[in-house]
Amino acid sequence: MLIDYSDKELLVLQKISLSAEELGMPCYLIGGFVRDKILGRTTKDMDIVCVGDGIKLAASVSEKFTPKPEVHFFKNFGTAQIKTEGLEIEFVGARKESYDFNSRKPAVENGTIEDDQNRRDFTINAMAISLNKVDYGALVDPFNGIKDLELRNIQTPLTPAQTFSDDPLRMMRAIRFAAQLNFSIHPKTFEAIGEHANRIKIVSGERIADELNKILLSNKPSIGFDLLYKSGLLKIIFPQMVDLAGAEYIDGMGHKDNFYHTLQVVDNIAMQTDDLWLRWAAVLHDIAKPVTKKFEEGHGWTFHGHEVVGGRMVPKIFNSLKLPQNEKMKFVRKLVELHLRPISLTKDNITDSAIRRLLFDAGEDFDALMTLCAADITSKNKTKVKRFLENFTMVRKRCAEVEEQDHLRNWQPPITGEMIMEAFNLPPSRAVGDLKNAIREAILDGIIPNEYEAANRFMLEKAKELEIFRSNP
Ligand code: CTP
Repeated sequence: MLIDYSDKELLVLQKISLSAEELGMPCYLIGGFVRDKILGRTTKDMDIVCVGDGIKLAASVSEKFTPKPEVHFFKNFGTAQIKTEGLEIEFVGARKESYDFNSRKPAVENGTIEDDQNRRDFTINAMAISLNKVDYGALVDPFNGIKDLELRNIQTPLTPAQTFSDDPLRMMRAIRFAAQLNFSIHPKTFEAIGEHANRIKIVSGERIADELNKILLSNKPSIGFDLLYKSGLLKIIFPQMVDLAGAEYIDGMGHKDNFYHTLQVVDNIAMQTDDLWLRWAAVLHDIAKPVTKKFEEGHGWTFHGHEVVGGRMVPKIFNSLKLPQNEKMKFVRKLVELHLRPISLTKDNITDSAIRRLLFDAGEDFDALMTLCAADITSKNKTKVKRFLENFTMVRKRCAEVEEQDHLRNWQPPITGEMIMEAFNLPPSRAVGDLKNAIREAILDGIIPNEYEAANRFMLEKAKELEIFRSNP
């Protein structure tokens, strides 16, 4: 089997082979590494399966390197890992019964290499390469995975029902590989995903999120999301996204299918950025359209406030998808809330103050917001697209000019809350907040310049107006 290994990989494989020989333990390179190497994709994760004790093999291999890499092992699972030569090498004994990828139950019965291959997820992931002296380098491929690689076909080695019941996450893995590798899922395998979709409910949210993120990080995420939708999995794991699907008509007036619009936006953004969270913002930008949808007589379909309602939905959706509740979530929420702002500025209302407000509200996420906004221009109507793009270019230009002048992206007003408290001898209170906001608004509206003297004068006048007086020390 001709595989283009790097020198480091060859060195590692030779040492593993030597250890296997010494221990009299047949061993094989298997799974994703074999698949990716044949496809010419880069990969750092090497899986080694041996007929015997994987931990013992790992310990022996580690001895052959200087410095000696540490062996991390999990006795219950009979697995061990070493990191060396820029590779993460995982050792495991061949198993007979189903893999328990899901639970924390100890490892299952020992088996032969064939047993082990039978219990893997897809034919393209079940190929092994012998590291044994007798047939070093030979491809051991009982399910003709190599043919499926050529045909770009994803199918299970056993019946799909059997393979999916061993680990229902494999239904998502099939879709993830289809998206990542741009492969097709064999009709029988795909049909089985539809039939067994409900079983995904027994899989942990974290593992599902992992696959969703991988789909979203693929070159054309729409492939994966569309398959998730068509298989029925999406309805179970992320129903709010399915609610976007379909177009309703009243009096001959319809609205666009927001599911496919969203997919288009996600594909557009994927061409611009690998940032997972910006891609999530694209997935979620219109998520509240179904709940805010109204048909207004003489006007047509409206989705008023969908950006605000959508923003509020973000923490809940992140929670249910087991995505983090940290600053990444806040970033996505902010982008969903602001996603209409740049494009809503039309020629007539691109005032300096509107631009200042946009720069201030978007702050350090301004570039990300503009990327999302550009990706959101998807209409089939060419004149509309042209108009939007012109507006957009104009907004970008004006933003650059105003930013150059006012530096608002990471801006703090020249008068802080502490300064106000000191000036009026006030404790932290509503009055301090009111004054601070008034100063900030006045600067953003261009009523006063962005400098200390003017802001201080404004503060004193505003205090009089609001009847805020310096209290006695
Ligand atoms: N595997 C499996 N069923 C699973 C997970 C993994 O049969 N639910 C097997 C497959 O043979 C797979 C190998 O374990 O190739 C390694 O799994 P993993 O590292 O998760 O996937 P890779 O195929 O290596 O792909 P990637 O690294 O892109 O996730």
